[in-house]
Amino acid sequence: MSKGTFSITTPIYYVNAAPHLGTAYTTVGADTLSRYKRMDGYDVAFVTGMDEHGQKVADTAAERGMTPQEWCDSMEPAFREAWDLLNIRYTDFVRTTEPRQARTVQRFWNDLHGKGWLYKGSYEGWYCVHEETYYAESDLEKDEDGVYVCPECKRPVERAGGEENWFFKLSAMQEPLLRFYDEHPDFILPQTRRNEIVKFVEGGLKDLSISRSTFDWGVPLPFDEGHVAYVWADALLAYFTGIGYADPGREGEFDARWPYQYHFVGKDITRFHCVIWPAMLLAAGLPVPEHVFGHGFLLTKGEKMSKSKGNGVQPKDLVKIFGVDAYRYYFMSDVQFGHDGNISMERMVQVYNADLANTWGNLVSRVFNMCGKYFGGTVPAAPAGAESNPLAQVAEGLYAAYDACMRDVDFTGAAAAVQKLAGAANHYVEDSAPWNLAKDPAKADDLAAVIYNALEACRIIALFMAPFMPTTSAEVFRRLGLGALEECTDIEAASAWGRLPVGNRVEKGDPLFPRLDADAIDLDME
Ligand code: ME8
Ligand code: MG
Repeated sequence: MSKGTFSITTPIYYVNAAPHLGTAYTTVGADTLSRYKRMDGYDVAFVTGMDEHGQKVADTAAERGMTPQEWCDSMEPAFREAWDLLNIRYTDFVRTTEPRQARTVQRFWNDLHGKGWLYKGSYEGWYCVHEETYYAESDLEKDEDGVYVCPECKRPVERAGGEENWFFKLSAMQEPLLRFYDEHPDFILPQTRRNEIVKFVEGGLKDLSISRSTFDWGVPLPFDEGHVAYVWADALLAYFTGIGYADPGREGEFDARWPYQYHFVGKDITRFHCVIWPAMLLAAGLPVPEHVFGHGFLLTKGEKMSKSKGNGVQPKDLVKIFGVDAYRYYFMSDVQFGHDGNISMERMVQVYNADLANTWGNLVSRVFNMCGKYFGGTVPAAPAGAESNPLAQVAEGLYAAYDACMRDVDFTGAAAAVQKLAGAANHYVEDSAPWNLAKDPAKADDLAAVIYNALEACRIIALFMAPFMPTTSAEVFRRLGLGALEECTDIEAASAWGRLPVGNRVEKGDPLFPRLDADAIDLDME
């Protein structure tokens, strides 16, 4: 029955701060695609987690007078709760301080050590603790006082290194990587990101220091216990752990799943995922994941949103106003995956009212209402020939159009394809004016046809909206007297026209998306 495995990850987020709108964006994206793939018949693994080692986390803990482990433990609920709130259905949540992750890290680097990919050396350079990265002097920026700052987060960098460390021969991977990009033109998505990475690698690669000996907050390297793995040489491998690598309880799972179909990341960390990560895998003799999708940044007033810059709106603040489904829908439909996108409260209200209150929600209200009024709340039998109607036509092409968008990770396009059917259904109701048909007993068949068709459109819209808005779609299914939407594993067959059973009880229910008044909302997105 299954179409095969589909495996996807979010970044393994640092625990120095609770999830914010940016981290939620990637996570909701991965959840939306995962949910669709489940409904389309795939056996899905969806891995997320917390990146807990390294200097940044150790420093943050020290500032709070806690041990790093205490600090990380105290942050886990914030992540779990945020993902529960946003209805994220991950299959594994990896904490890099778990023993299973230590086994992964040790096994992997031991293997590369044995294969001759590591050597001892030393390097001193400019380090940004926040990004946990060395930067070449030529890549640094200067602040207004002439102090060198990180090109990514703009914080001051510090001189670091000098001591002996283990190095991975990344420089030897330049040619293999360029060949790999060439042979896999859609490994790095979108294309703009690919061009940046290819240019970067063409400029030459330096060997990478993969261990630290000046502090011990990390996984000890098995062949040299005085060294712990560099935080990125640890965190990337959480993608292994999340599908059962080095886990005696999950024998065979890694081999069945590897490689991933997608790593979803922001463009800030595409280099790690598109250069270092595939180099590590090639060195280990493992296949490389199919795609790394480096999406853009959420911006407010043109600036990257981040917890530290003080734009402190939490996902839960927005969920309180809009509800979880509208939250998900807004970010997925209005911020084109792959591009930077400005977000604002005005825009969020606008999208909510236009797409959800006035279109999808309004359709359900009026159609379910009329079903109650004219047919006592049961699905009427459509007369012969009713299946050829304008809505059936739109619905017929919907799976193909929607699926094509999802394959391109074009959530905006997929949402628009469903909205098209919702819009068409509202027009259809308007044009057929059931309230007039109801006045004429000779038009009883026409009335039944219109109500059946409109209800059927609602069922199909609910199916395709489900990856974006699972709760609302489940509610529409419940009101239509249908079985649990969560169990759908063949959305193509399920969305065929005419599957709504005649005679089902239809419950009117409250408005799904009550209209919102922007002036009444007292919250600023910045
Ligand atoms: O980099 N817009 O973790 P991190 C969109 N631990 N997405 C944003 C965003 C914004 N304004 N701000 C953050 C790390 N993100 C490492 C990852 S993976 C093996 C290790 C999202 O907590 C986006 O996905 O800094 C970005 O790549 C990620 O959060 C960075 O999360
Ligand atoms: Mg970051």
